[in-house]
Amino acid sequence: MSRLDVVIFGATGFTGAKTVEEMVRIAKKYPGLAWGVAGRSQSKLEELMASLGKKTGEDLSGIKMIVADVTDEQSIKDMCLQARVVANCAGPYRMYGEPVVKAAVEAKTHVVDVSGESQQATAGVKELRGAAVGSELVVCRTSAVDAIILINFKIFVNSPY
Ligand SMILES: NC(=O)c1ccc[n+]([C@@H]2O[C@H](COP(=O)([O-])OP(=O)(O)OC[C@H]3O[C@@H](n4cnc5c(N)ncnc54)[C@H](OP(=O)(O)O)[C@@H]3O)[C@@H](O)[C@H]2O)c1
Repeated sequence: MSRLDVVIFGATGFTGAKTVEEMVRIAKKYPGLAWGVAGRSQSKLEELMASLGKKTGEDLSGIKMIVADVTDEQSIKDMCLQARVVANCAGPYRMYGEPVVKAAVEAKTHVVDVSGESQQATAGVKELRGAAVGSELVVCRTSAVDAIILINFKIFVNSPY
């Protein structure tokens, strides 16, 4: 099965919907880009895409929707296997972040999230480092504004990073 370039998981939440809207804008610049949205509710995904279609004036009917729930391990694995990159917006990350990273590493899928909960995020990545190193996978957690401040603060006060 050929993979989508990017799947935005947790698309129906606040962060997810903003990310999808930005993706609509970016995708216009890259016509060949294959992307999709994922979340735990098919009807909420449909609602989101319909409203973003109206808001942006773009035809989003061809965008793939994937139903996946963090509490259903197999559904997360299946989602990761359909993507080259998962942009994970399903939170709170302290509860739902790690299973997605784990499934992504197993599926050899790059994964990025915007966790501000840096301690858990760092611990999770450390545990999975063995599997990820040497695989050329990108596992990028804590990639948003408040996280960058936290990481920089940790680098400043405590330098094991
Ligand atoms: N670092 C930063 O600067 C920054 C900024 C913003 C947010 N964040 C973090 O981003 C995360 C999300 O925040 P938010 O405000 O976007 O939250 P939100 O609006 O509550 O959205 C949460 C998303 O997670 C989904 N979700 C919850 N449980 C799930 C499950 N079991 N399986 C699959 N999806 C599930 C929700 O799906 P439903 O729509 O179906 O409920 C929703 O799409 C939080 O951890 C927050 O701390 C970080």
